[in-house]
Amino acid sequence: MITIDQYNFQGKRALVRVDFNVPLNSNFEITDDTRIRAAVPTIRKILNDGGSVVLMSHLGRPKGGPEEKYSLKHLLKPLEETFQLPIQFAPDCIGSEAVEMANNLQPGQILLVENLRFHKEEEQGNQIFAEKLSLLGEVYVNDAFGTAHRAHASTAIVADYFPHDKVCGSVMQAELENAQRVLSYADRPYTAIMGGAKISDKIQVIEQLLDRVDNLIIGGGMSYTFAKAQGGTIGNSLLEEDKQSFTLELLKKAEEKGVKIYLPSDTVIADAFDNNANTQVVTSGTIPDGWMGLDIGPDTIATFSEVVRTSKTILWNGPMGVFEFENFATGTKAIAEAVVEATKNGAYSLIGGGDSAAAVTQMGHSHDVSYVSTGGGALLEYMEGKQLPGVLALQMEETPLT
Ligand code: 3PG
Repeated sequence: MITIDQYNFQGKRALVRVDFNVPLNSNFEITDDTRIRAAVPTIRKILNDGGSVVLMSHLGRPKGGPEEKYSLKHLLKPLEETFQLPIQFAPDCIGSEAVEMANNLQPGQILLVENLRFHKEEEQGNQIFAEKLSLLGEVYVNDAFGTAHRAHASTAIVADYFPHDKVCGSVMQAELENAQRVLSYADRPYTAIMGGAKISDKIQVIEQLLDRVDNLIIGGGMSYTFAKAQGGTIGNSLLEEDKQSFTLELLKKAEEKGVKIYLPSDTVIADAFDNNANTQVVTSGTIPDGWMGLDIGPDTIATFSEVVRTSKTILWNGPMGVFEFENFATGTKAIAEAVVEATKNGAYSLIGGGDSAAAVTQMGHSHDVSYVSTGGGALLEYMEGKQLPGVLALQMEETPLT
């Protein structure tokens, strides 16, 4: 694989696949620009070498045609501010206008093209569409780790048109190196913290982790399915009915493998899904009807934090509660503090997944942990041991990935 530092972009027009799938508010303002900031080194390297840049990305999940709220033109101003440069915008990612704008780029200039997913062929991995995209550049750079698990035209297929000039961007490289770090040579004790709403998204990764970690902490929405499966009452809390048997099997497997599982011992419950709902703290598995668990309780925070603080490798994916509501963010904040403390004491910490990464960033801790991944699903799939199409496509025949 050619890394960004190994390639000289002088006089070259680079077609760069970035993951600018960033959250926007109702005024189309970016609420978390982590993915944009992450792409800066790759783009700067190309410009500093004397190349020009054509940026392509998806935004959201449009239904295969243009939708105002998903237009990449909303990112134009923030990008101009980031690079302190005027940036051109092509209203379609393929076609004669985009090709002409790309051909006219001078070294040091940037062109942003419209949302790739305004064409259904992008997600279909259509070859003709990929060929049209390929006309925009002379060298292809993939820096979109967050989308590397998708075999889409711009993430995988387009690379075929650049057999000798396909380059791994710096975000992609850093993400792979950090994920490898927790996959292959973790210092012990190694603790994985899994949270978030759904177990179904994380079944495979959890199963893989049982072969690696010493401690598995389970919090957030997914913990209520465990509580129910163990015979508890969970009121109106999140439940994945059909995953109850999986949770029991998982507990059994963990015991067989000597992995210690930590589930919440108490929970903060609310009488409505609302920041200002009435609350109580109850023992896990004793939630009355009409109430729902929205955060881990104080005893759980104490136990989880102690495990985290004494760990040497930490992988965290998914919040401990509904942290978007200030009144139910305590558990997630406490875990973030414990991760920061462990990191200060020499632990390696990888924060992955949109929500836990957003929580750490919102708390101003993104520089106090070892690495904050830009990938959600992509990181999980990589941790599951799957080969990511976007990574495979960068492989050079003569230098296979190990
Ligand atoms: C993400 O946000 O995880 C990536 O940008 C991929 O988006 P997708 O799940 O819509 O493919």
